[in-house]
Amino acid sequence: MYVCMCHAVTEDQVKKAIDAGAETPRQIARGCKAGTDCGSCVRRIQALLGEHGARPCPTARLAAKLGLADPQAQAAPAPVAAAAPAAPALVAPLRAA
Ligand code: FES
Repeated sequence: MYVCMCHAVTEDQVKKAIDAGAETPRQIARGCKAGTDCGSCVRRIQALLGEHGARPCPTARLAAKLGLADPQAQAAPAPVAAAAPAAPALVAPLRAA
């Protein structure tokens, strides 16, 4: 699966860079240029770094320092209300004459 579309960098390439010692998105970019164009992949790279035990991103470090809960634990979807009322029909049903 591609992580960086601008430079055609795959998740495996990023994981190999992490295994080789990369600890920041910048260090990964030095090897494969991932994250150096539009930047939309940097958050995914940061997530891969976190998943593989590398140094967490500054936001995660700040959250840990402040004692805030893990943001991923809070991201769980809220349960859907079981007995939500049915929406009223916008068009009256046709009746047989
Ligand atoms: S998708 Fe990685 S720099 Fe654009």
